[in-house]
Amino acid sequence: MLDPSGKAAFVTGAASGIGLGIACRLAEAGARVVLADIRAEPLEAARAEVAKFGGETLAIITDVSDQASVDAAADQIEREWGDVQIVCNNAGVAMHGEPLEKVQDPDWNWVIGVNVYGIIHGIRTFVPRLRAHGKASHIVNTASIGGLQVNPTFLTGPYSMTKFAVVALSEALENELKETDIGVSVLCPMSVATDIHLSERSRPDRLGGPTERPENHFMGDLIKQGLSPDFVGQYVVEAIRSGQFFILTHPETREWIERRHSRILQGYDWADGIGAKIGAWPVAAAKKERA
Ligand SMILES: NC(=O)c1ccc[n+]([C@@H]2O[C@H](COP(=O)([O-])OP(=O)(O)OC[C@H]3O[C@@H](n4cnc5c(N)ncnc54)[C@H](O)[C@@H]3O)[C@@H](O)[C@H]2O)c1
Repeated sequence: MLDPSGKAAFVTGAASGIGLGIACRLAEAGARVVLADIRAEPLEAARAEVAKFGGETLAIITDVSDQASVDAAADQIEREWGDVQIVCNNAGVAMHGEPLEKVQDPDWNWVIGVNVYGIIHGIRTFVPRLRAHGKASHIVNTASIGGLQVNPTFLTGPYSMTKFAVVALSEALENELKETDIGVSVLCPMSVATDIHLSERSRPDRLGGPTERPENHFMGDLIKQGLSPDFVGQYVVEAIRSGQFFILTHPETREWIERRHSRILQGYDWADGIGAKIGAWPVAAAKKERA
């Protein structure tokens, strides 16, 4: 549980959408905000917007898919501001609309590079620094509702796979940091009104450079109706304040998660029947014990 007031907060993907919403709400809560993004111009515009809340701001061009770039950002913050106490590993890209059998390695490398390695790099850069300064701290990783279930209609396989990874990394991190004063949250929103359908605009040169990805664009109309990034930012601030792990911003997705979990549990019921039939007694015994 951490009051953001006066703390230095590092937010990736802060030039747009949810990252900008988080940055604004953290600034409003009194944090000093470092905005990090791969796109220089929108990053500076976002910094100016966040600065309107009155606190100190810093913009650092960062490619989260590159460990050296995240390390360099952390070094710069330490030099200029000192200890970071809030880390929001939020930058991410959408890659929808293509069946798994057609997705080629440059695309896999991009979506895994940003969505999964972006979180891994954030953890590897900042956790040792947070441990070293020992002050109360908090890490928020942005996953998605797609990290808890796979959308059945939008061909979101690669994206969902990376977001399941973000949830797993966050759960593992929470376990590993249990004995410390470092809290962890994982943000799992459904539709938020951002520019994520234009994700290909920020593809790093190392991963092929900015491209056109028309398969993503259908999402633009869908997410226009989504939750405002400002509300999502407010949920994040409340989670930091209260030490909440799962940040589930869309109540309408509860049913999806219940359905997925029922399906997993049905796998036990099925195996119990088979276990009894084939004489795999440990399974049958486990069922008896549960009863
Ligand atoms: N919009 C939604 O409906 C939604 C839903 C669930 C989860 N999310 C997640 O929220 C996060 C933010 O997405 P958004 O919707 O605000 O999208 P957005 O495209 O509006 O913002 C993402 C920002 O990340 C930046 N970025 C991309 N690659 C980067 C890199 N390699 N290094 C640094 N910055 C990089 C982009 O330049 C952009 O400014 C993502 O992780 C996304 O998966 C979004």
